[in-house]
Amino acid sequence: MVTGIGSKVALVAVLLSGAVCFAQSSSEVIYKAKCQMCHGVKGMADTPAAKAMKVKPITDPDVKGFTDAKMIEAVRNGTGKMQPYKDKLTNAQITGVVAYFRTFLK
Ligand code: HEC
Repeated sequence: MVTGIGSKVALVAVLLSGAVCFAQSSSEVIYKAKCQMCHGVKGMADTPAAKAMKVKPITDPDVKGFTDAKMIEAVRNGTGKMQPYKDKLTNAQITGVVAYFRTFLK
């Protein structure tokens, strides 16, 4: 009986960690598909499109000062030459992709 419960707990733990991995990797997929061409593989704005649009690297003091909320706002409603994404991505996807973008700051 005890082992039965133990294996159920283990199964739940596996399922939960799988869900977390999925959330992270789907944000990465969205970033690569929709953001990377202008913001660069590591957020350094080192692509030809980034140079053409004068996108700032994530390490630029102006961008570093952005809070999570400000970045989410910029992606939702657009900023400068960047189009709004609120009709293309869900709030959860935007939050996830901004979190992924911010990992480049670390
Ligand atoms: C067509 C090019 C392009 C694409 C695609 C693009 N961006 Fe941008 N992004 C820009 C430009 C241009 C700015 C404004 C840069 C500036 O004025 O500093 C910007 C600004 C931002 C900012 C505000 C901080 C900053 O760097 O100024 C965030 C956050 C951001 N983009 C995230 C994203 C995310 C996330 C995606 C994908 C869903 C994305 N961008 C897709 C061009 C793009």
